[in-house]
Amino acid sequence: MNLLVAITGWEVEPWVERFRRLLPDRDIVALGEPFDRRDVRYVASWKHPPGSLAGLPNLDVIFSLGAGVDHLMNDDRLPEALIVRVVDEDLTNRMSEYVVLHCLMHLRQQRRYDEQQRQKIWLDDRFQPAAHEVKVGVMGLGVIGQDAARKLKTMGFDVAGWSRSPRVVEGIATFAGEKELGAFLARTDILVCLLPLTAATRGLLNRSLFAKLARDGRLGGPVLINAGRGGLQVEADILACLEDGTLKAATLDVFETEPLPPDSPLWTHPAVTITPHNAGMSSPESIGAQVAEQIRRFEAGEPLRNVVNPQLGY
Ligand SMILES: NC(=O)c1ccc[n+]([C@@H]2O[C@H](COP(=O)([O-])OP(=O)(O)OC[C@H]3O[C@@H](n4cnc5c(N)ncnc54)[C@H](OP(=O)(O)O)[C@@H]3O)[C@@H](O)[C@H]2O)c1
Repeated sequence: MNLLVAITGWEVEPWVERFRRLLPDRDIVALGEPFDRRDVRYVASWKHPPGSLAGLPNLDVIFSLGAGVDHLMNDDRLPEALIVRVVDEDLTNRMSEYVVLHCLMHLRQQRRYDEQQRQKIWLDDRFQPAAHEVKVGVMGLGVIGQDAARKLKTMGFDVAGWSRSPRVVEGIATFAGEKELGAFLARTDILVCLLPLTAATRGLLNRSLFAKLARDGRLGGPVLINAGRGGLQVEADILACLEDGTLKAATLDVFETEPLPPDSPLWTHPAVTITPHNAGMSSPESIGAQVAEQIRRFEAGEPLRNVVNPQLGY
């Protein structure tokens, strides 16, 4: 057996089937089925149960089936192996669609018109700011952040981005590191978070950060959009900041606990838009093919693509 498929939270069968079609000469087994641990050279993981990969003596590569690898980094019994993440055009496009959709939704006050429609109210008493009057700040200028920033720019928004190390993106003002975070936040009306969850980013979206966002924007208050990871945000602070006006609205795709518990006040808050961690989607079709190609590269002695730096955690 070569490839162990270790997935929780998603349907496993489509992935196993896809790998069997792509790698017909390999043994593919799903976690939970019987197998000899010495035979495993590769693991394809999405949120495998922590500890379940311990004791795989011949493991070479762990493939994360999503762009984020926090689910791997949080397993303190993860065996030593190369870690490879997903960079996928289809996933990136879907993430950017989500970001553009929600920036436009806040710009055009769509939630308000949805409510007016429900109440059969014909009322157009609000000035609609133009996109170029609204400053969007994208946290994380990686594969997804850069793509989203470019697409927001195309829609006319005034876009800036923030990353750990300095990045140059044409037409976009860029800021880097803790030193420039304050200046980045001070010019941001809509904060879009596309950061990975690491030791350095956990809990970053908190009251002290929200308080540094621009107060003079055209939307009447700062807006938060988080499609990164739930661990980046402090939900009690989001709720308190929505109550006291530090934030005007929030779109959240990810949560501290997923699924979002039924008793979370976020569900019913009128200024919160919730989606069930589906801003992007990993498709077995395209990501399965990537994993197969990476295995081919590895066995041909070619360098693997999208290798994760375990020290940085992303
Ligand atoms: N909601 C969903 O459905 C969904 C789907 C896919 C992905 N995601 C999330 O999106 C994240 C980003 O994906 P990606 O492919 O764009 O990742 P990526 O290419 O690795 O980019 C990560 C970006 O974050 C920056 N960063 C990391 N740590 C930082 C820190 N401490 N301070 C400031 N900036 C920091 C990096 O800075 P440098 O440029 O300096 O390296 C980089 O610009 C994933 O990790 C995942 O959590 C969510």
